[in-house]
Formats: sequence, structure tokens, C-alpha cells
Amino acid sequence: MEIIKTVREMQEISIEQKQKGKNIGFVPTMGYLHEGHLSLIRKAKEMSDIVITSIYVNPTQFAPNEDFSRYPRDFERDKELAEKAGSDFIFYPSDNEMYPNGFDTMVLVDTVTKKFEGEKRPTHFNGVATVVTKLFNAVMPNIAFFGQKDYQQTLVIKKLVEDLLFPISIYIVPTLRQSDGLAMSSRNVYLSTYERTRADIIYRTLITAKEAILKGEKRRKIINAIMLNSLRSEPLVKIDYASAADANDLSEPEEFNSGQLVVLLIAVYIGKTRLIDNMLVTIPQF
Ligand code: PAJ
Repeated sequence: MEIIKTVREMQEISIEQKQKGKNIGFVPTMGYLHEGHLSLIRKAKEMSDIVITSIYVNPTQFAPNEDFSRYPRDFERDKELAEKAGSDFIFYPSDNEMYPNGFDTMVLVDTVTKKFEGEKRPTHFNGVATVVTKLFNAVMPNIAFFGQKDYQQTLVIKKLVEDLLFPISIYIVPTLRQSDGLAMSSRNVYLSTYERTRADIIYRTLITAKEAILKGEKRRKIINAIMLNSLRSEPLVKIDYASAADANDLSEPEEFNSGQLVVLLIAVYIGKTRLIDNMLVTIPQF
């Protein structure tokens, strides 16, 4: 496995690989790799000839009060894990390579970033859309892999690719979870031992709401209330949002229709750690 640090070298390698007829699969990450990231790399290996993983903690998607400087980093460990999972290259640019002096352009995906994560973190998705655009232009993949874990992010990326005409397919990989249901996340290391034992409330809440829907509940406010009540049963939890929405455009009708695909979205603080999760449910046809 090779480590590539400049955009120029990354582009040259991609062009060379494509000229050889190779299909490039791309997994963008911020590192501190866990099984969730590795499942993306494995899927990429299965579906493409060459896998490129990027490791870059992108400063523009963190607000000044967020955890950019203390975001966990361990490049040596990441290198080993990415290689074992099947990555052929790691793109590992510096801040100066990605945002040189004078950098002055941002990418804004508008409507789908207005709610939920976008409302709570107003500059976040501009940073994500900008860095992913740059990474796509550096890596030039045929197919890029994203996790369902960051559900709204997947909608942002799909819109970006559609609107800006990137010749790239987007593949969404299901969320990988710990045995108690907690979604794997680089931020889980912030949890204390006690907080970690309580964090399964997020998954249990999603399951409770899903079961209510499968039993026939279609009223959005009732579904939201079920999630809020469940989360409130855990005193360590501070709720940012817990909402059901249309899975395609995040619209919020009074009542969902039979057959409609709904996403249950949760963001909470457990102590000082902010965690997000989601679950897809189809409204039953009866
Ligand atoms: P990061 O949080 O490192 O996540 C990288 C990719 O791994 C994302 O597509 C994310 O959804 C996926 N992922 C994280 N946890 C997962 C899990 N438990 N199961 C499956 N997939 C999981 O998301 C980002 O980085 C950044 O915003 C990025 C797209 C790299 C832009 O900077």
C-alpha cells in the first residue's frame, strides 16, 4: 500500500490506473479507523479494482467550538487497518495541500442542509461538500463509498454529485454497530466507561420507534414523541433532535403514507460527547 500526500501525485496515479482500465473505488474518511470505516473499504474492494482511502480531518466542517483539535488521530494504526481491509493507496494530504493560502471557494448544497444536522451545525455541510468536491477532484474515482451512519451527509453528497455533474457513482454502506447496538464512531472513544454502558439508549430508541411504525403508527409527531420519551428515560442524555422525516428529501408531513420510506434521525449528547444515529423504516401497507 502506498501513501500519497499531494493532490498532483494522487491525480497522476488515478489517471494512470484508469488508463490501465482499472476501476477506482474511493473511501473518504477522517481517520481513527474502526470497523465501520473498514466495512466501507471492504465493500470498495469487492466492487472495484483499486481502492483509495483518504484520511484527512477536515477543518472546514468543524465549527470553532467543536472538537477539531482534539479529534482522535493515529495514522500508524490507520495505515495498518486500511491495508489489511484491502486499501491500495492512502491519500493523506496536509492542511496546506487541501487549503493553501488564498483558498477562497466553498461549495454549498442548499435545501437538504437546512434541517437537523445542518440546523444544529450551520457551517458543517458547507465544509463537507467543499472537501468532498476537492477529494473527488484529487482522487477521480469511479465509485465512492459513504456510510448510512451519517444519513443526511449521504443526501448532501448525492445532491452534490447530481448537481455538479461528477461522473461518480455513490454507494451507501449500512451502519456497523457494536453488540449492544451503539453505532461505531470515532467519537465513541470520548465516552467514559459509565457513559458507554448507557449509550445503547440511542439504538433502543430507534428500535422502539421502528416497532411502533411497523404496528401502524404513521403520525410524525407521535413517532417523534415516542423517541423523545425513550431518550428522556436516560438521565445522561441531552437531546439535540429526534425526528422522523421522509428519507428522500427530509420533508416532515403530519402523517406518513403507506409504502413511504422514513428515516428516524437522532442526535444527542451523552455527557459532553455528541453522537448521531438513524434508522430507515418503510411505512407498512395496511
Ligand atoms: P468519518 O466520520 O471519518 O466517516 C467516514 C465514512 O465512514 C463516512 O461515510 C461515514 O458515514 C462512514 N461511517 C462512520 N461510521 C460508520 C459505521 N458505524 N458504519 C458504517 N459506516 C460508517 O464522514 C466523514 O468522516 C467526513 O464527513 C468525510 C466524508 C470524510 C468528509 O470529511
